[in-house]
Amino acid sequence: MNIRTETKNDYEKVQNLLTQAFPGQEEAILVRRLREDKDFQRELSIVAEEDGIIKGHIMFSRSSLFDGVYNHHVAALGPLAVLPDYQRQGIGGKLIEEGKRRCFSHGYPLVFLFGHPAYYPRYGFVQARAYGIDITQFTVSDEVFMVTELQPGALDHLHGEFRFHSAFEDLG
Ligand SMILES: CC(C)(COP(=O)(O)OP(=O)(O)OC[C@H]1O[C@@H](n2cnc3c(N)ncnc32)[C@H](O)[C@@H]1OP(=O)(O)O)[C@@H](O)C(=O)NCCC(=O)NCCS
Repeated sequence: MNIRTETKNDYEKVQNLLTQAFPGQEEAILVRRLREDKDFQRELSIVAEEDGIIKGHIMFSRSSLFDGVYNHHVAALGPLAVLPDYQRQGIGGKLIEEGKRRCFSHGYPLVFLFGHPAYYPRYGFVQARAYGIDITQFTVSDEVFMVTELQPGALDHLHGEFRFHSAFEDLG
């Protein structure tokens, strides 16, 4: 399994993957918007490829945490998708781990996401509101709004209001 940065040649395969993994078009639209954005960091769009097949894809984008005085740059995970035929083989996990390493080397202290409460805790994600972090951009339950530390101790001193990149708004 080759875990590597997505290239322009992968775009079509990744769009197909997203429409197979998700019921609607929102994630495919989101990925297209994020790639076109000025803040897009190419190394944070990662594919899992084997035998010429793009089996999985993960993307991270720049988002913000406002502590009342400063806007801190933090990362957001999403979307993450694995082709239905190749799910439950550890591909999602490999993409998350590689993505976290890359976000760390880009200097991000934290990674946020909205996701399955039964899936992400195994990769170190915890409920964000339990750490004094809120979100007003979207309405979401506590279990789904998650965060993980990349820099040890970051959750002890970073609090406030989280905002996804504006590309996440008005998707549907
Ligand atoms: C969620 C997803 C990315 C996981 O990728 P994956 O490669 O199948 O996951 P992994 O192989 O790394 O992990 C598999 C484990 O996660 C669990 N898991 C997978 N999807 C899950 C889900 N939706 N909810 C809870 N657990 C889930 C499996 O039960 C398995 O657990 P086990 O090892 O105890 O049997 C993949 O199933 C997918 O693309 N789903 C459709 C799109 C989606 O929902 N994306 C995530 C949006 S938050």
